[in-house]
Amino acid sequence: MEKTFRIVVLISGRGSNLEALLQAIEQVSPPWGQVAAVVSDKRHALGLEHARKRDIETLVVPRRAKERSNQEFQRQLAQEVERFQPDLIVLAGFMRILTAEFVSRFPGRIINIHPSLLPNFRGLHAQQQALDAGAAESGCTVHYVVPEVDAGPIIGQRSVPVLPEDTEDTLSARILKEEHQLLPRVVKEIALGNIRLEGSQVVRRNTGEELSVVTAT
Ligand code: GRF
Repeated sequence: MEKTFRIVVLISGRGSNLEALLQAIEQVSPPWGQVAAVVSDKRHALGLEHARKRDIETLVVPRRAKERSNQEFQRQLAQEVERFQPDLIVLAGFMRILTAEFVSRFPGRIINIHPSLLPNFRGLHAQQQALDAGAAESGCTVHYVVPEVDAGPIIGQRSVPVLPEDTEDTLSARILKEEHQLLPRVVKEIALGNIRLEGSQVVRRNTGEELSVVTAT
């Protein structure tokens, strides 16, 4: 029997992308993957509930800034994540920048979802950055993680219009809807072996499906 594709999701908060991923997996029988664990750096992350109610293992690895360095925290985080033998680590609203050491322990196996059309508006408050720049369009990106923040090879993007009356909240909500479509789709393609990273290149298998462009319809 083929081995189940194992996913570990890292979160810090609400976890709506995690929920979208879990629902997408549940829709298909037999499932194309399994969320083996959800790991949070925040004890009270609301998203942990999405895992608990499905009996998916959850784990909190707090930073405890006063007691240890970021390196030490991330070493423990990597050890804990490794225990679940992930084929893929998904950063879904995980609010910490992974160290180069962490990233190098899971080569080509970490992806992140970011609420802008990268390479535009990297870092925090990407939606507000888009508003401040007067962008006519924004969206979301799923990319492989490299040590430099929001800079890794892009796998897929979906775009939305920025409207004149938009606030950070309204634009964020519009983008979030697209995130919930994009993230599960990308994870599924990776799980099926249709997308992988080779060096710094995203390689896509030609399945006859339109995999090279993942844009909003
Ligand atoms: C999303 O906007 C994601 O792009 C960003 O953080 C937010 C997480 O939302 N990295 P949620 O926790 O998945 O609801």
